[in-house]
Amino acid sequence: MTFEPRIKMPAFFVLVLGMIAASPVSSAQVSFVMLMVDDINPAANTLWNASIKDTLSEQDWDQIKQAVGRLTAASMVVSAGVPAQRDLTQSREWQEWSARFTATLQAASRASNDKDRQALTAASNRLVDVCEGCHMVVAAWQVGRK
Ligand code: HEC
Repeated sequence: MTFEPRIKMPAFFVLVLGMIAASPVSSAQVSFVMLMVDDINPAANTLWNASIKDTLSEQDWDQIKQAVGRLTAASMVVSAGVPAQRDLTQSREWQEWSARFTATLQAASRASNDKDRQALTAASNRLVDVCEGCHMVVAAWQVGRK
């Protein structure tokens, strides 16, 4: 899969990796929760809130682009997985949902660059399915471990 970073990403990527590396708790699970709660969730909310607005201003589009950039950076961490959870993050299911996450964000990126409302709404809706799809895999994996 080709990856087209459009937004300043490396610095942010390093920051996220650094955050995970610097985490006092070594559990990869905690790191994923942090990434999800601090980054992925708020950025996704920006997209979802924007997609239900009647009209989008220039400022809205700028915020959307920033949110897509944040999500894209975070999705690289998600795709890479973590050694501590190799059996989960290297599973076929994880890789599939990560790939869908990346593809959906590429669609959202194109939509925001083109200021295409319809495409943005479609990508935002697909994003909901991607979040839920991976969480179901994670939940099943957690149950299996108990
Ligand atoms: C490829 C897998 C994957 C994708 C895609 C994904 N997540 Fe997650 N998410 C996780 C994992 C792993 C956890 C940690 C679960 C745990 O440890 O209990 C998590 C946890 C979370 C949590 C914390 C839940 C809690 O209280 O424990 C939130 C919030 C969250 N994700 C939001 C999102 C949103 C919003 C999206 C989509 C924009 C998303 N996630 C996409 C794997 C994923």
